[in-house]
Amino acid sequence: MSECTHDCSSCGSDCGSRTEPQSLLEQPNKMSNIGKVIGVVSGKGGVGKTLVSSLLAVSMQRLGKNVGIMDADITGPSIPKAFGIHQKADACEFGIIPAKSKMGLDIMSINLLLENESDPVVWRGPVIAG
Ligand SMILES: Nc1ncnc2c1ncn2[C@@H]1O[C@H](COP(=O)(O)OP(=O)(O)OP(=O)(O)O)[C@@H](O)[C@H]1O
Ligand SMILES: [Mg+2]
Repeated sequence: MSECTHDCSSCGSDCGSRTEPQSLLEQPNKMSNIGKVIGVVSGKGGVGKTLVSSLLAVSMQRLGKNVGIMDADITGPSIPKAFGIHQKADACEFGIIPAKSKMGLDIMSINLLLENESDPVVWRGPVIAG
């Protein structure tokens, strides 16, 4: 085992100096008010994540909930396409403002940040990981 640097964030050792548990959650914007999060994930492509996310969101919106979709697919984002959104996301002093679908769903996707929505997102691994 290498010498302790007292920096637990970059160390995997389970020693007595560890001050865990540490949350890996990224805090949302202070202006955000998020009640529940439903993750739609798969280890395989093309199995219906986008379709299920879109239908779930629309169904809940119809039930009167305030719904937003965070498209976490940063290499093949298709949520904006599913909702016919072509405008870019706005920004203000508090941060980025999601686009709105015709039904009023808040939508955020990497596609809304690209110069042209058809631009390829060619990012190197370390940038994506960050
Ligand atoms: N339950 C289903 N029955 C039939 N076709 C479906 C079903 N769910 C999704 N599809 C179709 O399968 C294709 C892939 O669906 P979708 O884009 O939602 O998958 P995905 O998991 O988001 O894909 P990707 O990994 O590329 O993001 C689409 O053409 C979609 O219409
Ligand atoms: Mg998809």
